[in-house]
Amino acid sequence: MRAIDLRSDTVTRPSEGMLDAMMSADVDDDVFESDPSVNRLQEMAASFFGKEAALFCPSGTMTNQIAIQLQAAPMTEVITEESSHVYNYEVGGISFNARASVKLINGDTGRISAYQIDQAINPVDIHKARTSLVCLENSANRGGGACYHLGELERIHKLCRDRNLKLHLDGARLCNAAIATRTELKKYGPLFDTISICLSKGLGAPVGSLLLGNQKTIYEARRVRKVFGGGMRQAGFLAAAAQYALENNIERLRDDHDLAKKMAELLLECDYIESVIEPETNILIFGLKSKYKPEQFLNHLKENNILAVGIEGQAIRFVTHLDVSPNDLNHIEKILKSFSS
Ligand SMILES: Cc1ncc(COP(=O)(O)O)c(C=O)c1O
Repeated sequence: MRAIDLRSDTVTRPSEGMLDAMMSADVDDDVFESDPSVNRLQEMAASFFGKEAALFCPSGTMTNQIAIQLQAAPMTEVITEESSHVYNYEVGGISFNARASVKLINGDTGRISAYQIDQAINPVDIHKARTSLVCLENSANRGGGACYHLGELERIHKLCRDRNLKLHLDGARLCNAAIATRTELKKYGPLFDTISICLSKGLGAPVGSLLLGNQKTIYEARRVRKVFGGGMRQAGFLAAAAQYALENNIERLRDDHDLAKKMAELLLECDYIESVIEPETNILIFGLKSKYKPEQFLNHLKENNILAVGIEGQAIRFVTHLDVSPNDLNHIEKILKSFSS
């Protein structure tokens, strides 16, 4: 029996419909920009999210780093939240790729406000790095999948425009945020200079991320993708999976969010749980009371065919996705309730 895998929404396998779309994809060579499936995906995604152009890349790390490299010059500074993916989980790429420094803001479950950003912008001073770029994350992974509401994004957009700063969105899970906050996808595009969207998370494609921006930015992004070694040839097989994901797997994210809420309710009934961040989307972060060891809890789950990961200290993360079903809840409940130290 396959395990109930709650480690991440990156673990999904392509569905039959997605595999059919991949097998029948029309492909050519994307480095020559002549792969029809990649071209179709890029045009479709740009229009979906309200931007002029898009670039298909192998990973979310690559789309984020291309955006940062293009918009933060050496000796400038990037503002981001202290638990953000771009700072914590991209191998120090901001310093390595862009040679820029970083100012971290302690936000609210991974989100920062226009006011906090305003306070973090460096004054004009020969000693200081010039602030160049703000990076947001929506939904915020380490914030338990918390989402920005459109009003705050509009305030941040206006501040960045007035202060001549570029604004990038790590939207690895933007579709989850859009579903949870009932926001039309098209509304996000005009607020950001660049957006990175992951196709291999909740959307269920096997590989891929899209960088969205205006024509000029995406033209330059294609060059940076090449120097990162990310130019792919018959990438249309992957683009067909991505297109299938955008066409079929966005609305159903609501089911993943409902499932995460039900799991949160189960956890609240367990006496070994210290706290649960109420999930807005598909990420559920909770803490064990100090006398319980995370490894013991995770081993108990694993011995009973449930996989999850610890994230820091007593905190554990469950992520729901299209390969976890409401039918799994009974088993999850039984195993959660049978844990004791
Ligand atoms: C918020 C966020 N951004 C970016 C990424 C990077 O995506 P990838 O694993 O495709 O490089 C992840 C991956 O988990 C993520 O959670």
